[in-house]
Amino acid sequence: MEKPVSTSIRQLSAHVGQIVELKGWVYNIRSSGKLRFLQMRDGTGIVQVVWFKGAVSEETFAQLDTLTQESSIVVTGKVKVETRAEGGTELDGQTLRILQIAVDYPIGPKEHGPDFLLSNRHLWLRSRKPHAILRIRDRFIKAVRDFFDQDGFTLVDTPIFTPAACEGTTTLFETEYFGQKAYLSQSGQLYAEAAAMAFGKAYCFGPTFRAEKSKTRRHLTEFWMIEPEVAFNDLDANMVLAERFLEYCVQYVLKECALEFKILGRDTTKLQNVKAPFPRISYDEAIQRLKEKNIPCEWGTDFGAPEETALAEQFDKPVFVHRFPAHIKAFYMKADPTNPKLALGMDCLAPEGYGEIIGGGQREESIEVLQSRIKEHGLKEENFSWYLDLRRFGSVPHSGFGLGLERTLSWICGLEHLREAAPFPRMMYRIYP
Ligand code: 4AD
Ligand code: MG
Repeated sequence: MEKPVSTSIRQLSAHVGQIVELKGWVYNIRSSGKLRFLQMRDGTGIVQVVWFKGAVSEETFAQLDTLTQESSIVVTGKVKVETRAEGGTELDGQTLRILQIAVDYPIGPKEHGPDFLLSNRHLWLRSRKPHAILRIRDRFIKAVRDFFDQDGFTLVDTPIFTPAACEGTTTLFETEYFGQKAYLSQSGQLYAEAAAMAFGKAYCFGPTFRAEKSKTRRHLTEFWMIEPEVAFNDLDANMVLAERFLEYCVQYVLKECALEFKILGRDTTKLQNVKAPFPRISYDEAIQRLKEKNIPCEWGTDFGAPEETALAEQFDKPVFVHRFPAHIKAFYMKADPTNPKLALGMDCLAPEGYGEIIGGGQREESIEVLQSRIKEHGLKEENFSWYLDLRRFGSVPHSGFGLGLERTLSWICGLEHLREAAPFPRMMYRIYP
């Protein structure tokens, strides 16, 4: 007998006519007379294995009827073309080896509530939709790395235990650190600034933490952020970098993940349009536009979800809002030289109601201004003396931004809640599993 080729479901179309071995799990099995139709998954895809009573041993055929959803198996069979199948192939089953029979797998084809699914997240990952989302997440991250590699950036990892706040003290997670207080990082930015002075173009990419006491569909307490920082870039150059970056990553996943978007039922026509340049409006203009739409808003307040949605709706691609009132923004933002009430910050709002996915701007480079900002924000200067060194020794204009990975994926995948964009989401009311 021909020795089976060990392969994966994703690779099957390269093995048409051959006998292959697949290792995986039962997704579904149904019988019809002398036939058994086994849907098998192996992490790379799903394939149907057809078993005909006369073609396999009696023992094998009997074993098929003991299989349950998620039982682990090793199968051999002959690969055939099947144009109606997702991957374009099907298997004629020959041998079956059972590794373990799964009893009462809790997630069935019927509808489950979100709470049940989240409590079973460790198993839910195997289902088609979560699997597709996490594949897109993986490919998006590859695109992130490729983009920065090709653009001359150096990855510099920033710490998670930090001595001070970066993004305001209301969302800090505090922890005991050998008799001292430490905080989980809200953003790697301040360290990325140090890296930019060392490498010119640097980025960090890691988990960040916010003690968000909100239960919205846009907030996690732990999320991943991609933060480039570039010496000598001003606000305009920062927006150019952000739109090139987002275009690259979105177009990459559209190209690589067509099957995953199909599984999600995501209409990707609007995503095709994510191409630089993106429109840019000032905060002042944004207020004007909101007033014209009769959306209550006042100059000087930050935008929430309704305002962001109303603004983004007016454009067919992501839009930048820049030059916010300085008092609603973080201490490190540079003031607009033409109007010191404004900060040289920018947010990028995603279409389709997904809101802010990027926040960033030009950083204050004057040590004196920064010192007074730190005071105004009620922060302790001693915690930032290392950061002030960056202004003492060769201070230069510089800019950067942070892109929230789960927010961005939530938009790209068309999710109702960003928790599905994280493998094991952390929210105010969930730390299990
Ligand atoms: O606007 P934020 O707070 O900006 C910063 O942290 C800057 N220090 C980044 C920088 O300039 N290097 O956060 C940046 C992005 C937001 O636009 C959003 O996408 C995401 O991080 N984000 C969250 N995502 C999920 N859950 C939360 N609680 C988030 N808070 C912010
Ligand atoms: Mg922000």
